[in-house]
Amino acid sequence: MKHIICLSIFLSAIACTKKQSDSEAKKVEAGTAEQKVWTSNSALEELGYHLYFEKRLSGDNSISCNTCHDITAGNAGVDGLPTSVGINGQKGERNSPTVFNAKFLSVQFWDGRAKDLAEQAKGPITNPIEMGMESHDLAIDKIKDVKGYQELFAKAFPDQENPINIDNLATAIAAFEETLTTLDSPYDKFKEGDLEALSELQKKGYEAFQSVGCVSCHSGPHFAGPSLPIGTGFFMKFPTFPDADYENKYHFSEDLGRYNVTKNETDKNMWRVPTLRNVARTAPYFHNGKVESLDEAVKVMAKMQLNKDIAEDEAKAIVAFLESLNGNIPLINEPKAL
Ligand code: HEC
Ligand code: HEC
Repeated sequence: MKHIICLSIFLSAIACTKKQSDSEAKKVEAGTAEQKVWTSNSALEELGYHLYFEKRLSGDNSISCNTCHDITAGNAGVDGLPTSVGINGQKGERNSPTVFNAKFLSVQFWDGRAKDLAEQAKGPITNPIEMGMESHDLAIDKIKDVKGYQELFAKAFPDQENPINIDNLATAIAAFEETLTTLDSPYDKFKEGDLEALSELQKKGYEAFQSVGCVSCHSGPHFAGPSLPIGTGFFMKFPTFPDADYENKYHFSEDLGRYNVTKNETDKNMWRVPTLRNVARTAPYFHNGKVESLDEAVKVMAKMQLNKDIAEDEAKAIVAFLESLNGNIPLINEPKAL
């Protein structure tokens, strides 16, 4: 068993090296002592882990959650595309957010339309441009036919006679996603008292993040606003200060955000404040994925949320600080098909 784990670390390290050259932003310390190999702690997590990678939950058996939220080989739970591509090559309207640390957000989706991870997990399966199953019942029928799932569901829900249903499936995926946290970033170490954990530039950036006013929205332990009860949501207008140049270039106002969910006038262009943990690894940026670099995203935020033109070196320092929010992504291997 030990040999198998070592071999898989070795193979993933090769995969990572290759990926790193594709995108520096996705860099991880694969195979280093700090990188933990993910293992499940319960039957429920184990079931959720398999379901997260299960392509049979899509209409043509081609798409799993991992297709758009890649968590293998140190990837940061995103697809790296401006907007995601689902079943039959269909392109969605929004950028795929990371699943890492999503459990800390008090609502899910850019517009907060799902109250928690379990409610969220049911959405993509029947979304016609994501996984494209005709109904949850059909998805469950497919899963019921797989012997391995009969066993895993029975173990995860030992008190239930017919445990294979959509609610239990969503509960299991959510339980797996809850394990996807990275609370050991240099920033966290700094907060715990290791003053050397941040570079001088990162410390400067941390100060600028506060003095410029980013922290007025990106507050709290996960930079997504105050910790609120699940289902609440912390929403802010974006853009707050219209800027013709950025708007013409990136078209941020076209998608009305929260308004599409509530139809309240006051919710036009309101968006949930996202976490900034691992943000240096989740390019491109914003709900429409139109901004390619973190440097540009920081400048957009300063101008459109705070009405400030920040200097180049201030933007650079803030970017360096945001890089300190990269935690150790566990090494997660795709499970063997059941
Ligand atoms: C075709 C690509 C695609 C697939 C497949 C997909 N997602 Fe997503 N996911 C997205 C996009 C795009 C969003 C953002 C949509 C929005 O906010 O309107 C999203 C949002 C989320 C969020 C919310 C994160 C946040 O910060 O709000 C979670 C959690 C999530 N997906 C988990 C899953 C799970 C679990 C599955 C499998 C059952 C899955 N996704 C399948 C593309 C996908
Ligand atoms: C008035 C509230 C507010 C302020 C102030 C603010 N932000 Fe944001 N931030 C948001 C919202 C809301 C979003 C989501 C916007 C969207 O794409 O719809 C966001 C998105 C981001 C993103 C993109 C995240 C991603 O995953 O794509 C980054 C990076 C970011 N903010 C950094 C900053 C920085 C740095 C500052 C200070 C210069 C700042 N923000 C100031 C509300 C704010």
